Amino acid sequence: MAVRRFSEKKLTGEVLHRIRDTKNPRLKQVMTSFIKHMHAFVREVKPTQEEWFKGIQFLTDTGHFSTGKRQEFILMSDTLGVSMLVDAINYKASAGTTESTVLGPFHRERAPEYPLGANISRNTSDGEPCLVSGTVRDGKGKPVAGAKLDIWQAGADGFYDSQKGDAMNMRGVFRADAQGRFHFRCVKPMHYPVPHDGPVGTMLTATGRHPMRPPHLHFWITAKGYKPLITHLFVKGGKYLDSDAVFGVKPELIIDFKKGKDGIAVASYDFVLMPDRKKKKKK
Ligand code: BEZ
Ligand code: FE
Repeated sequence: MAVRRFSEKKLTGEVLHRIRDTKNPRLKQVMTSFIKHMHAFVREVKPTQEEWFKGIQFLTDTGHFSTGKRQEFILMSDTLGVSMLVDAINYKASAGTTESTVLGPFHRERAPEYPLGANISRNTSDGEPCLVSGTVRDGKGKPVAGAKLDIWQAGADGFYDSQKGDAMNMRGVFRADAQGRFHFRCVKPMHYPVPHDGPVGTMLTATGRHPMRPPHLHFWITAKGYKPLITHLFVKGGKYLDSDAVFGVKPELIIDFKKGKDGIAVASYDFVLMPDRKKKKKK
């Protein structure tokens, strides 16, 4: 049988032809698009062999840098704006419902459950004391009683607990009361850098970028019949609000953390959840 010669022009079509029998239609769609875009990228950039190998070495280093505690590929996705794009496509807040933002790598399963009012910070050296309160409601203003609020934050030193050891600190789970209300103590969020001692840090430096995130508090709010809401509250007036390394800032999520007479910073926010229509139909 004669061997076909693949010209530069025809190669893309040949590769697509090779995957024509892919059984899973979604996989076929994803692979088709990936191959087309990769070929278009190479045609546009025209990398030398040396440059192509450098790119592969960067991805290899990114994989080697990843561990159970450090996911360098997620960090790459975050710092290139891809995580926020996936979020924007999947979570379209309707008028009046709370905007979502990036999850980030520091959420931990099985954070301690606390009664309302508890302090998630265990050490006075964690930062300035802060009191956060608010409500969880639906789009019609109905309280979402028992909504689960999973909260986490970095300390004033710019580190999450998991970057320092295994002990849980500055994170906790609360349940909204029958009126959808919640309140807890924490430390006033401070700006901090995303981990930048690996390949992603090298990429940020090489492209003239800083690794900083503006001060924020993470929330993952879940309740039966509602879409999970993964979001942050950002500190108004905080540094880096206009140049977040992971593109996570949305104006609606920037709020006052004002210091009261007692020296405690106070913030308040009313979250509005979206109904999860898919789940409702199944019932
Ligand atoms: C964070 O906010 O915890 C975070 C988000 C994305 C990348 C790194 C850190
Ligand atoms: Fe964070």
